[in-house]
Amino acid sequence: MGFPEHRMRRLRGSPAMRRLVRETKVSVDDLVYPLFVRPGEGLREAIKSMDGCYHFSPDTIAREGREVHKLGIPAVLLFGLPEKKDENGSEAWAEDGAVQRSIREIKKASPELLVITDVCLCAYTASGHCGLVKDGKIDNDSTLELLAKAALSHAAAGADMVAPSDMMDGRVGFIRQALDENGYKDVGILSYAAKFASSFYGPFRDAVESAPSFGDRKTYQMDPANVRQAMTEIELDIQEGADIVMVKPALAFLDIIFQVRRKFNVPIAAYNVSGEYMMLNCAGKADLLDRDEAINETLTAIKRAGADIIITYFAKEVAKKIND
Ligand code: PBG
Repeated sequence: MGFPEHRMRRLRGSPAMRRLVRETKVSVDDLVYPLFVRPGEGLREAIKSMDGCYHFSPDTIAREGREVHKLGIPAVLLFGLPEKKDENGSEAWAEDGAVQRSIREIKKASPELLVITDVCLCAYTASGHCGLVKDGKIDNDSTLELLAKAALSHAAAGADMVAPSDMMDGRVGFIRQALDENGYKDVGILSYAAKFASSFYGPFRDAVESAPSFGDRKTYQMDPANVRQAMTEIELDIQEGADIVMVKPALAFLDIIFQVRRKFNVPIAAYNVSGEYMMLNCAGKADLLDRDEAINETLTAIKRAGADIIITYFAKEVAKKIND
């Protein structure tokens, strides 16, 4: 095998030929679009730290949901902000909270659009931490009860899946049991299974005002250096009943996605997080690269690594391009 019998460039000679032999294609079916809701009325406020993303209120979110559905994107991932933060993050399970109301509005307007909800306390607690603070530490076991309450309130409002992102131990099993005992056996769990303590969440924390008021998240989110631990996290979450597992962030963790794909059979979601999103936006704005090409290259790489599902703020514009 060698030159001149073999000329690899023959398969690259034209757009049609490249299309014919392309091994990896991102489809609209792969995409999940994150949405942000907060209490209020008539809101569609630009989020400063995240170009092209908005804070909606429950009365404006249905329209956005319809647009996402019309583009063929199968699912949205809902994040919420409370009216007021408190010690326990109690608005996380309020029946009339922004997320709970928004779920009802979206499902009423677009019943076929899947609504997945982020389950966490960090946007709701005064501490900005994902769990309860006891003696200056994030307490695992007392947090589980509250996460389950939040998950149940989402299920009651009509969520199709809940997505715990807190990284407390045992929360997937705890939430699964709570859902089953309350008649929500068909509500699925997409677990943020391998979630790393990452600087790439910066723009998002601005968006939901959830930067921790003291310390960092390194006692619960994973150390980016660890791959064997990621595999154990994934294995435990599957055992506890996760239907889909997530690796997050995506770009600096493509090797984790690749290894999870080889070892486990459940669908894998990868979260192309806010910092990854804004890096491309900023580089594009500075004319340092072709933004569209860079988005395509990025999402293709995430899929090529083994992700079945890509959660991305680019979802709408990418869907538009694919549909054109
Ligand atoms: C909440 C949560 C975070 C993200 C999703 N859920 C932030 C964090 O853990 O600090 C990040 C999403 C993004 O950066 O796009 N636990």
